[in-house]
Amino acid sequence: MKASDSARLPAGTTIPPERFSADWLSRREWLDGHSRSHALTGLAADWLAARPGVDGDPHGIVDLGCGSGSNLRFLAPRLPGPQRWRLVDHDPALLALARRHGATLRDASGARLAIEASCRDLSPVDDDLLAGADLVVASALFDLVSRSWAESLVAACAARHQALLFTLSVDGDWAFLDAAGKRLEDVEDIAVRALFQAHQRRDKGLGPALGGEAPTVLAAAMADAGYRVERAATPWHLAAGEDALLPLAEQLLQGWHDAALAQAPEEQTLLQRWHARRRAGLAAGALGLTVGHCDLLALPPLSAGGA
Ligand SMILES: C[S@@+](CC[C@H](N)C(=O)[O-])C[C@H]1O[C@@H](n2cnc3c(N)ncnc32)[C@H](O)[C@@H]1O
Repeated sequence: MKASDSARLPAGTTIPPERFSADWLSRREWLDGHSRSHALTGLAADWLAARPGVDGDPHGIVDLGCGSGSNLRFLAPRLPGPQRWRLVDHDPALLALARRHGATLRDASGARLAIEASCRDLSPVDDDLLAGADLVVASALFDLVSRSWAESLVAACAARHQALLFTLSVDGDWAFLDAAGKRLEDVEDIAVRALFQAHQRRDKGLGPALGGEAPTVLAAAMADAGYRVERAATPWHLAAGEDALLPLAEQLLQGWHDAALAQAPEEQTLLQRWHARRRAGLAAGALGLTVGHCDLLALPPLSAGGA
């Protein structure tokens, strides 16, 4: 199936939901925390503390596509309390993990969090998804969603004067690094990356997916809605020879290979050869990896009231 094929699916065809393993999410969590913008987190914390209408009421925070709770674990201790979280995901097993971990977390002043879990699809964008939130957050989500879903989310949040912190959105770029950390790519890497990017744009359940376009589309929608937008590049860097990160690097490489193969099965021989060559380079400590990501913070105009 080509990236554009989802537009030609027979009426009534349902796209199977995109699933993520708890193992993969936990493997990437350290690197996510290391890569994210602490400056944008700090600005979000300042905005929450000073938001209009705050009077000892809990800060309402919604985490869209929360998975096993990585975003919650990063943000809760860095944001002011009291905090009332709603975790949203369609995967009940991941949601249960997030909720369990959340019970042990504390906010920036050491108080427990109030946590509610909502097992549902991210569509429709409605009151059940967003009501009561001052800050709407999501991490590693927006490559999966469509332009129309992203734009309707931003418009719905703007109408509720909610701030947005959307972190670790992939920008579609990845490359190998040599031992000195310099970007290294040949024609096969470029061809595989193009296949991977086409695969990223397949429908993941919310319409033709944005893939690496997500940061640009989101930033434009936020600016159009009148938000003050702050953006930070937050790439993953896995240096050559970092043994602790090798399992993650190998899993990424496997994922790129599998996506490219699904996109172009006729290229199996080339893809197998490329995979074996790059895997050997990673295992020998001769190659590292970089994966482009972006964090976005959108703050409502100063005159806006609370949600
Ligand atoms: C890449 S994971 C990121 C998880 C988490 N935010 C993190 O940073 O570790 C994407 C998450 O979005 C959820 N998700 C994807 N599509 C969804 C949909 N249509 N409705 C609800 N959840 C969805 C997945 O179940 C998964 O937990």
